[in-house]
Amino acid sequence: MIVLGIETSCDETAAAVYDTARGLLSHCLYSQVTTHAPFGGVVPELASRDHIRKLLPLIDEALASAAVVPSDLAGVAYTAGPGLVGALLVGATVGVGLAVGWGLPAVPVHHMEAHLLAALLEDEQPAFPFIALLVSGGHTLLVEVAGLGRYRILGETLDDAAGEAFDKGAKLLGLPYPGGPELARLAALGRVGQYRFPRPMLKVPGLDFSFSGLKTALALRVRDLEARGPLSEALRADLAADYQQAIVDTLVGKSVRALSVTGHQRLVVAGGVGANRALREQLRAELSRTGATVYYPRTEFCTDNGAMIAFTGCQRLALAPGAYSSVRVEARPRWPLEELTGP
Ligand code: KG4
Ligand code: ZN
Repeated sequence: MIVLGIETSCDETAAAVYDTARGLLSHCLYSQVTTHAPFGGVVPELASRDHIRKLLPLIDEALASAAVVPSDLAGVAYTAGPGLVGALLVGATVGVGLAVGWGLPAVPVHHMEAHLLAALLEDEQPAFPFIALLVSGGHTLLVEVAGLGRYRILGETLDDAAGEAFDKGAKLLGLPYPGGPELARLAALGRVGQYRFPRPMLKVPGLDFSFSGLKTALALRVRDLEARGPLSEALRADLAADYQQAIVDTLVGKSVRALSVTGHQRLVVAGGVGANRALREQLRAELSRTGATVYYPRTEFCTDNGAMIAFTGCQRLALAPGAYSSVRVEARPRWPLEELTGP
């Protein structure tokens, strides 16, 4: 079964082709980073317009590089949510339009389900059940994954997402958009242990997160230091290193706790922040002590991509082949993961 996947939930336009027999056949991506950079964040209207411009050529490219024609396909999967509504509508209308034109089922895919299944695209893939740490720009979740569609949310952020904490921290340190990778780059040049930041919620029981206090702590620290004069590159690097370390300690501490309370031995890390090297190194070190294993999608599949949508669409279509005959266009900016059901 071959499925075309379309992703347009935020600022990445992506298309990919997945085959249950041969695996991933192609994946193409256009990043809108340069469009949004002058504004310091994603401008929803510009995102929608860019998706309109780029999506159809990307789909052509994905099909051509997979050497697949529409009549080879079993379905068209598209991200139906959560995300920016205008951006979602572009992928949804194109996906449903193509599916109707080609006489195929259109499969609406949950973006976060796709993130948490992305590790299954790799050769070294986790068996069910596992714990997933989903850390993106909009979400920070710990999920118990018993199987496809069998998800229990164990903890989530009460305010900012981990990616947001990276992005807002980067802004405070005067770094350009997109902030997360920039802050990580600066942190790599700094020394950990020069500045003290809180490890939010680590001391309280449970698996929820909170990052807004940490961001405020950085804002106050930057303000105090700037009162004495402009911040040197070395000082900013030290601040970045300690700020990143506070986020990483929190994510690692809660992940280890989630494994311990559930008794599971496998952790999957997904979402954009999963690309963070300090997080990866610390998780690997901590989990090797407990005998648990950590799995990641390759870096390009941690951030938004079409491959995870094509893959998830394939799994969903295989589960309920008759369920996707409708021509309804689904775009759900808010769509709780717990609403999904499994076999
Ligand atoms: O999953 P994703 O690509 O998009 C969403 O669905 O949100 O995640 C994007 C988030 C952004 O906040 C970005 O700053 C963060 O992931 N990010 C990183 C790194 N790469 C991306 N944060 C820290 N370190 C990184 N290397
Ligand atoms: Zn995402």
